[in-house]
Amino acid sequence: MTNTEIINRIQQLKKEKNAVILAHYYTRPEVQDIADYLGDSLGLSQEAGKTDADIIVFCGVHFMAETAAIISPHKKVLIPAPSAGCSLAESITGYDLREWKKNNPAGIVVSYVNTTADVKAWTDICCTSANALKVVESLPKDRKLLFVPDKNLGAWICKVTGREMELWNGDCCVHARITTEMILEKSQQYPEADILIHPESLCSHDDRILNLPQAYLYSTAGMIKHALNSSKKQFIIATEIETIHKLQKDNPDKEFIPIDSRTICAQMKKVTLENVLEALEKEQYIVEVSEEIRQKAWIPIDNMLNIKLQ
Ligand code: 13P
Ligand code: SF4
Repeated sequence: MTNTEIINRIQQLKKEKNAVILAHYYTRPEVQDIADYLGDSLGLSQEAGKTDADIIVFCGVHFMAETAAIISPHKKVLIPAPSAGCSLAESITGYDLREWKKNNPAGIVVSYVNTTADVKAWTDICCTSANALKVVESLPKDRKLLFVPDKNLGAWICKVTGREMELWNGDCCVHARITTEMILEKSQQYPEADILIHPESLCSHDDRILNLPQAYLYSTAGMIKHALNSSKKQFIIATEIETIHKLQKDNPDKEFIPIDSRTICAQMKKVTLENVLEALEKEQYIVEVSEEIRQKAWIPIDNMLNIKLQ
C-alpha cells in the first residue's frame, strides 16, 4: 500500500468507527499530519477529556495513552505501538513512592505526567512542563515536596520558584543530552536567534542559561506559541527534533535550527502510518488500567487540570 492509500483508509475507518487520532509533537511528520489533534502532554490530556469520539488512537508513548485511558474511562484508548516506553516513566515505581510517603507522612508528591498509572495512584498532584511552575506555586509553603521523576525539570522549577523540593533521580534520555556548552556554542553561531529550550534539558537550571537574554524555557507547545508570536526570523530549538515539523509548517518564512541532529526520541518513532492503520482495523492495542488504580490515578490528574494557567 502507498502512503496515500494508507491515509485514505485511516480517514475512512476513523469516520466509520467515530475515532479520533491524538498525536504528540515528537511523532513522525507523517503521523503528525494525520492527527485530529496534535499537542504536548498537557494539551493531549485535556483533549482526551474533551473528545466525544468512541475510540482514541493515541500516537505517543505508553504513559501518555495510559493517561488518556485514566481520563476517559468510557472510551476505547488504542496505542498503535504498545512497546513505546519512556526512560523517565520507567525510572520510578509505585512502590518507591509508597516508601517515601511512609517516611514523610505530611509530604506532598508532585509527579510529572511522564509516569505510570501506578505512580500516579500514589501522587498528590500531577504536572506537565507547561504548568509545572503554577502547580508547585499553588502548594502550601510549609509542606515538604517530593518531585518525581525528572531531576532536570525539578531543578529548574526550584530555581524559578525559589521553592525547595526533594528530587527523584530520573531523566529523559533525549533532553539530558542538551548541555550548556551546546547552547552557548550554537548561540555564538546564530547571534540573532532566539533559543527555545525544554526544561527537561540538562542545562535548564544552569545560571549561564537562565541569564542568557535570548534563551526561553518552554514546554513544546510553549515553543510553538513563541515562534508564532515572535518577529524574530531564526530560532534554535533545544528539544526533540520532530517539533521542527510543526514549527516550520506554521512559520514557512522562519528558520529553525536543531540544537543537535541526535535529539531524537526513538520510542516516539515507533508509531508509524502502518501501525496506526492496523490499530484502527483490529482495534488494538487496548490500553488497560484496573479500575482500582484508575480511580486513584485520576485524582492527581484532576487536581492538575483544575489549576488555571493564566
Ligand atoms: P511536553 O509534551 O510537556 O513538552 O513534554 C515533553 C516530553 O518529553 C514528552 O514526553
Ligand atoms: Fe520520554 Fe524523553 Fe521520549 Fe519524552 S522525549 S517520551 S520524556 S524519553
